Amino acid sequence: MITVPPVITIDGPSGSGKGTLCRAIAGSLQWHFLDSGAIYRVLALAALRRNINIVSEEMLTGVAMNLNVRFLLNEGEMQVIFEEKDVTEEIRTQSISHTASLIALFPRLRKILLHYQHIFRKQPGLIADGRDVGTVVFPDACIKIFLNASLKERVYRRMLQLKKRGCNINFKSLLADMEERDKRDYNRAIAPLLPAENAWLLDSTAMTKEQLINKVMNYIKNKLVL
Ligand code: DC
Repeated sequence: MITVPPVITIDGPSGSGKGTLCRAIAGSLQWHFLDSGAIYRVLALAALRRNINIVSEEMLTGVAMNLNVRFLLNEGEMQVIFEEKDVTEEIRTQSISHTASLIALFPRLRKILLHYQHIFRKQPGLIADGRDVGTVVFPDACIKIFLNASLKERVYRRMLQLKKRGCNINFKSLLADMEERDKRDYNRAIAPLLPAENAWLLDSTAMTKEQLINKVMNYIKNKLVL
């Protein structure tokens, strides 16, 4: 008997804690992990490297259809190999964040990127993180979570992440960047950042990483009867 691998989706804006949470859950359940933003980011990198006009959906779809990319799971991290080189770190810059959110506006492009995301659905199960993974990519997911946090807290978290990577950016300019990106993600016509109808809404502003992981793991254990 062929059974469809179960999926748990966690959607939310940047800095809400979904990446950390997804990796922890995937590690604990020993399931696969999809960081869907990395797919948008690697396409942004490819477009920038090839000097593609990022307002041309046609040119971008051409790049998306011929993307030489592989995703490997390495100690719980999704490693991104683009044109045979590891670009996992390179796709985390602010300029790639900005470009990824711009190209994410195009409907045909989003459709092509669905294919890359569906490949991750394998036994024994998948934890997917993104903006529309519960609403569009895996609408039949068995558990859907929408994670949020205050803008100020999300900016602090993102600043810490960037600092760890050796990039110092000031609070004000990061806040402006994230506000702009949020606006685009929430308001785009296709697959906007929205909780799925049956999603559990969670705010991580006042939670430590450990509290968040414990809370969500308990919820999942009850739902999946583990
Ligand atoms: O999660 P992230 O910050 O790595 O995502 C980068 C951008 O990619 C985000 O601003 C919008 C886009 N994105 C999307 O439109 N849909 C997803 N499921 C994931 C990311």
